Amino acid sequence: MTTREELASTYDDLPYGGIAFRETHPGRLAAIARLLGLSPPRVETCRVLELGCAEGGNLLAMADSLPGARFVGIDLSGRQIATGRARARAEGIGNVDLLHMDLMEADDSIGAFDYILAHGVYSWVPPEVADRILHLFSHHLTPHGIAYVSFNVYPGWHQRRMVRDMLKWHGRQTHSPEVQVARARATLELMIRMARDETDTYKRILLEEQKWTEDLTDGHFFHEVLEPDNHPCWFHEFLGRIARHGLQYVGEAGLLSMPLGRFRPELDEMLDQFSSDPLEKEQYVDFLRARRFRKSLLCREGLAVSREPDPESLDDLLLLARGRLTEAPDVTPGVETTLRSPDGRSLTTSDGLLKTAVAILFQEWPRCASFDALYEAAREATGAAGVPVGFAEKARLRDGILRALSAEILEAVTWQAPFVKVPGERPAAPASVRIQARVGLPVTNLWHIPVDVEDIGRIVLAQLDGTRDRARLLEDLVAEVVKKEFLEGPSGTPVKDPQVVRRILGPNLDAILGRLADNAFLVA
Ligand SMILES: C[S@@+](CC[C@H](N)C(=O)[O-])C[C@H]1O[C@@H](n2cnc3c(N)ncnc32)[C@H](O)[C@@H]1O
Repeated sequence: MTTREELASTYDDLPYGGIAFRETHPGRLAAIARLLGLSPPRVETCRVLELGCAEGGNLLAMADSLPGARFVGIDLSGRQIATGRARARAEGIGNVDLLHMDLMEADDSIGAFDYILAHGVYSWVPPEVADRILHLFSHHLTPHGIAYVSFNVYPGWHQRRMVRDMLKWHGRQTHSPEVQVARARATLELMIRMARDETDTYKRILLEEQKWTEDLTDGHFFHEVLEPDNHPCWFHEFLGRIARHGLQYVGEAGLLSMPLGRFRPELDEMLDQFSSDPLEKEQYVDFLRARRFRKSLLCREGLAVSREPDPESLDDLLLLARGRLTEAPDVTPGVETTLRSPDGRSLTTSDGLLKTAVAILFQEWPRCASFDALYEAAREATGAAGVPVGFAEKARLRDGILRALSAEILEAVTWQAPFVKVPGERPAAPASVRIQARVGLPVTNLWHIPVDVEDIGRIVLAQLDGTRDRARLLEDLVAEVVKKEFLEGPSGTPVKDPQVVRRILGPNLDAILGRLADNAFLVA
């Protein structure tokens, strides 16, 4: 176990970074809370607190997507807070305060919050700090507020822990986080090479851990795997801890991982053999899936949480596809079709109206729709095929949409992201987008979704402060591309002549801006 000074210094030495996390957006947390029967605070004007906010990347991106809300972040690492503050100041982001503070010292002066987030912190701090996180939830949440906490769980973490313990032991003689990470990566590689053949279970475990870690930056590797504090727990233990703080479990940020009986009948049948209690079922799902990570929503005890999504709650929500599909699915009624989201989730159905509604959302992404508007659009699209209309039909679509939400091919939100689909005369991207594009972080759009953006798109995004017209944008783009040698000629060497670069990029500028607008990066 570490002192808090030691812990701060590991994050000062090797910062965790400034990534945004889609699931933590209050507009998504509120939607899940509504689906499960709660009345969470309105997000457009809410107050959000993030505990262990690192460089504030998550909050800065949220601040642009909810300009009328206020955000406070707390972190022990002075270096990370200084980085975040400098970025916010440079870009004039006024609705975020980043505080260099120990969670143990946060008191009433920080105020009350509608949403409190703790992503990647609870399991990676000493037990008294983890307990403090729950204390802060219970003392600083407004009465209908929602807390989000992610944490490592057993049984899945037993496997990961075995590998972590060996890698940590191997690096025990060095204090430098960078050296520990380098040694850990090399050790894992060596162990894999020396393990027996591919069929050996142990080798498969090592390979799985290597697959997970190879995409991690050194900062993430150190803090996820080698951080001195890492305390996974069983879900049932976690339930006991939150109850002691007057809190209750609402559900998961990802509906797909929840045992939602009616919407997941096969799983429910299996779980019924173990227990009829919904929370015990959650524990058994962890057993069945060897779960290692949870992203849980909590609220005050006493509020009535429903264990099944309520179809009527769809009326208060906006529906959004999980990305754009270029190929329309087969929407013929009665023909079984598997609808697949671009990120690989699926739902199989033969319901023509549901398929049409989902197809509309996939085509329209990043636009969202209310349930009623979607119902009307789907009815119009299928009307020619003679689909009857009526109360039962609408109820059937509600159920179908809930299934699509619990399969996570669609998502529900409670706010309208303020993006524009058509770039203006002087196109503009929010400050957080420009910062991320400039510093090389994954770029988070106005739906709070990180999107892969190629190099030229990043250069353009970084310039979109709303002051440049297209001629000026092109000149600045050409200068950057020449400086960074981003364009390759036919012989594979960089094109350095500005005139040639201008000739190539000029005709493409509108298409580049169009792609950025299509990905919900631009504002009015
Ligand atoms: C693994 S990082 C997660 C950062 C960020 N939430 C994310 O997921 O990207 C944990 C963060 O918690 C902060 N932290 C740890 N102990 C803390 C404490 N006692 N008070 C405030 N922040 C703390 C660390 O400085 C670090 O930035």
